[in-house]
Parts: sequence; C-alpha cells; structure tokens
Amino acid sequence: MARRERSGPRKGGARAHGPPRKEHGPPRKEHGPPRKEHGPPRKEHGPPRKERSRPVGERDERQARARRAQSARKQEQARPPERRVFPIVPPASPAPARAGEWLFTTRAGAEQDLIEELYFLDERSQPRPAGEALVAAAERPRRGPELTELAFARQGFLVGETLAAPTAASVAGAVRRALDRAGAPQPWALDAWVPDSDAGNRLSNAAAALEALDPAALGRWAQHRVANARAAFAENGLYAQVCLTSPDHAAVGAGFARDAPSLAPGGRLRVHVPEAAPSRAAMKLVEALTWLDRAPEPGDLCVDLGAAPGGWTWVLLERRARVIAVDPARLAHSLDGKKGLLHLRADAFRFTPDETDPADWLFCDMAWRPLEAAGLLAKWARRKWARLLVANIKLPMRKKAEHLFRVREILEDAGWTSLRARQLYHDRDEVTIGAVRI
Ligand SMILES: C[S@@+](CC[C@H](N)C(=O)[O-])C[C@H]1O[C@@H](n2cnc3c(N)ncnc32)[C@H](O)[C@@H]1O
Repeated sequence: MARRERSGPRKGGARAHGPPRKEHGPPRKEHGPPRKEHGPPRKEHGPPRKERSRPVGERDERQARARRAQSARKQEQARPPERRVFPIVPPASPAPARAGEWLFTTRAGAEQDLIEELYFLDERSQPRPAGEALVAAAERPRRGPELTELAFARQGFLVGETLAAPTAASVAGAVRRALDRAGAPQPWALDAWVPDSDAGNRLSNAAAALEALDPAALGRWAQHRVANARAAFAENGLYAQVCLTSPDHAAVGAGFARDAPSLAPGGRLRVHVPEAAPSRAAMKLVEALTWLDRAPEPGDLCVDLGAAPGGWTWVLLERRARVIAVDPARLAHSLDGKKGLLHLRADAFRFTPDETDPADWLFCDMAWRPLEAAGLLAKWARRKWARLLVANIKLPMRKKAEHLFRVREILEDAGWTSLRARQLYHDRDEVTIGAVRI
C-alpha cells in the first residue's frame, strides 16, 4: 500500500534518487511495472455498473464488443514501432545550408534524430547534415497548409541567402531583402544566433554584433522593428534570423514568427529558477509551460508522477496548485510541510487516483522506458483521470525519432489530442510532450 507522507525531517534527501542512468530501466524490482498494467486491465472495459441489469443478450453483446476492442488495443500496443528505411547519411564534411533550403538547429548530437524525423514525416524533405547541431532540408514537412512542428528542431528558417565573411552592413542588406520576400512592411524582429556546439558558442559575441543593423540600410523596414520575436509574434509579424555558422559563413532568412519552431534565439529558451528549487529539473517544466503557453491555475489539482526530488512539484506549488506527488523516492526537505502537497511514496504504475476528484493536470517526469511510460499515460486518458498532460519522455536510445512516433501513436490512440512534442533547450536525451483530453 502507498505510504502517505506530508512533512517531517528525513534522511537522505535528494540523493536517494540515484544516478539518472540507472533509472532508464526499471530501477528496482518492486517498482517495475508488470506488463499487463500497460495494456488496460480487463475490468476497465467491462460495462458500467448500471448496465448490469440489462437483458442478458444485450449485455453479452456489449461484453463481446468490449473484449474485441480490448484485444484490438492489445494488438495495437504490441505492434513494434513502424520500420522505415532511413537514408544513409554521408558521414563526413557536411555542407552548409544553401539559399532555398530550410536550416534547422538541434541539440548537438541530435542531428541524426532530426534527419530521421524529417525523413519519416516527408521523404521529399531530403534532410542532410549541415554542420554540428545543424541540419538542412529541401522542404519543411506540412500537415495540410500548416507547417509541422518538429520535435528535434530547436529553431529553423528558410534560408534567403548566404553570406561569406558577414558584416553588420552585409547582414542588414540581406535581412532587408529577406523581409521584402516575406511580406509588406509590418512589425518584425531579428535574432542572430550560433549553433549550440563548442565551435558555434565561441562565435556568440560575433553573432550578437550582427544584430546592430544600421537603420539606413533597412529602408522602409527600419521603423517597424520590434524588440524580440515574442513581440513580433504578438502582432502576427515577421521574424528574421541570422545563423552564424563560422566566421566566414552566415545564413539569413525571414518568415512569419508564428511559423518559427521557437521564439527564442537559436531555440535556446533560458529560464531562471531560484536556488530554492529542489532540482534543476524545475527548469524543464518552466520551459515546457512557456512553450505550451498554458499552466496550472491556483487551486488546480496536479498529479506529478516521478516527482522526486521535487523540482516540478515545487514549480506547481509556487503557482498555488494542489499537488499529489507520486514517487517511491523522498522529496527534498525544502518541500516539507508545503501547503497543498501530498506525497505518496508509491509506484506510479500502481497508483490509482480518486475518481471523484479527477486531476486537472497530469505531469510525468518518471525515469522509465518510453513505450511503457506512454502506456501509463494512455491509461490516464482512457480512464479520464486528467484533462491536461505535460510529460517528459526519456529517450536514451538511438532511433529516438522512431520511438517518439510510437509514443505519439500510443497517446493519440488513447484519446490525448492536440499533442505536441519537442526536445526543449533544457531537455537532454528526452522529449517533452503536451496534450489535452477532450
Ligand atoms: C528525473 S527524476 C524526476 C525529477 C523530478 N521531476 C524533479 O523535478 O525533481 C525521475 C524520478 O522518477 C522516479 N521513478 C522511477 N520509476 C518510478 C515509478 N515506477 N513510479 C514513480 N516514480 C518513479 C524516480 O524515483 C525519480 O525520482
């Protein structure tokens, strides 16, 4: 039975949680989810109680239907991730992005994940490496008229032109031409950024210097410049970007701010959390809530699966939400006695919430295998235990894109909608997911 813990001094504190690596498999046997829990337990599909008094024939028919649905769901869950033959990526000397291509930046080391994601979404995108933390593509995949959000692209733009030996003057001209191609004069913002690699980061001052555009060189655009991409987005305006890939090469482009993968320069949304936060994981949640543009209101009921040492719980309590933190490990002492907090030292796979008081939000940062974690989140949707989801899915393996597609399928099949997935700036080998249950 779950042990309930509200406050009081404890030994061990945050260190009791062990190194993250180990946690990617089941950490200890007693917390390992038995397989059957990932599919819906049988009784879930049984007819609701009041239907038991119906005539036997009708009841049998309903039960048979429910059994068929359950078996279809099980088969679906047992299906391995869809296999696609990914392109063989040229191993050496990636070429810089050219005019007319999309240029994306990723977390360093995630280039292949983005290439696979792009290829999986649309083979015509013809993705290829374009430098460390950079990927170029002939096209950006669309769903209907909408540009598809890419999980592994932190930032990106359609390259209007490239500049050899870029200077503030040559960049100003290129930005003006890129804005001219994107639309009529309107609010716009500019960010010059570098890829997040050792070599790239050494150029960050040089990139910042390129943002000081001479208004005279901007012509009719000069008076419409706004402070940042968020301000341009608020006015449905344009976002010009310069990526300085080396001292001798910059790519320049502009498009609607609403189409940019991120409104932060290079997709690096830096967030600050006070020292008092029990873990740096708090930053992941603050970034996730900013990206999703929604967050718990005071009084909202939040369930936080895999809560220890308590960074996410701390963020939620700061927002004056009520939190049920589920984790066999201890929470940090700084959370002792916090108003609105209930810590259940329980295995999330065995935890059943009070159905008379369904949660507004389900949060999950549990260190667990991705498909099994997705199975658990799917159960929350099927049982209508929460309306909104924010989950951090661990992807320590190669083939992250493939696993993420499967995770998405499991969640969407279960009823999570408006699903978004991103490897955020504060994410490592993991991806953050936001979704809604209607
Ligand atoms: C990355 S840490 C979570 C960090 C936390 N979100 C924070 O902000 O401090 C992963 C947590 O998942 C927990 N965990 C792993 N398996 C679990 C399970 N089956 N049920 C509940 N928690 C689990 C671990 O105990 C660990 O505390």
